[in-house]
Amino acid sequence: MKSLLYIDACMRDEESRTKRVAEPIMAELTKKYDVIKLVLNELPLDVVKKPLLAKRMAGDIPQEVMAWAEAVRDADRIVIAAPFWDMGIPAALKTFFELCSIFDVTFKSDDKTCYGNCKAEKMLFITSRGMNVSTGDELEQATPYLKALSWLWGIGPLQVVAMQNMDYVSPEEIENKIATAIDEGLEIAKEF
Ligand SMILES: Cc1cc2nc3c(=O)[nH]c(=O)nc-3n(C[C@H](O)[C@H](O)[C@H](O)COP(=O)(O)O)c2cc1C
Repeated sequence: MKSLLYIDACMRDEESRTKRVAEPIMAELTKKYDVIKLVLNELPLDVVKKPLLAKRMAGDIPQEVMAWAEAVRDADRIVIAAPFWDMGIPAALKTFFELCSIFDVTFKSDDKTCYGNCKAEKMLFITSRGMNVSTGDELEQATPYLKALSWLWGIGPLQVVAMQNMDYVSPEEIENKIATAIDEGLEIAKEF
């Protein structure tokens, strides 16, 4: 069975609408893939600053961090669930990515540029936005960032399941948006 890395960055955990959409989609994908799940709320994510960088340059990378980076490198598919925070992704997810961006693991370089070293041919991003901001809008900085990062790491095309305007509609409309997003995600899961 091929493998799938599920990065759960639903910081509000059980209250998260993103998580409510991700769960049935992941339940479906679990039938097709061996799933490795990383729940960012449960991981010790150190911000990458000078001391950590110095250690990294000296080849001193904590075993746990290396295991996350190798999980990113080796997964056949990647699913990320994260809410829209401050017009982009939550800092915990950015920190996770910075920790995993390790030379010779998730990316390599030659004498001219960097290139990806990851295996995943597809990546799915599940998200929920408070304001009425669409995927691709210039105010939406999560998807462009994930596309750029997946280019750096050599990961295949990014598909997006997004809910928007979640904080300014009735509870019924929120439920409708969640149901629509689950249907959309389950359709993607058939071919993912
Ligand atoms: C810390 C924080 C930052 C947020 N920043 C934004 C934002 O910049 N733009 C926006 O449209 N919504 C923002 N929101 C609203 C969330 O995107 C929205 O409530 C979303 O549905 C949350 O997803 P969740 O239910 O999975 O946690 C923010 C919410 C929080 C808690």
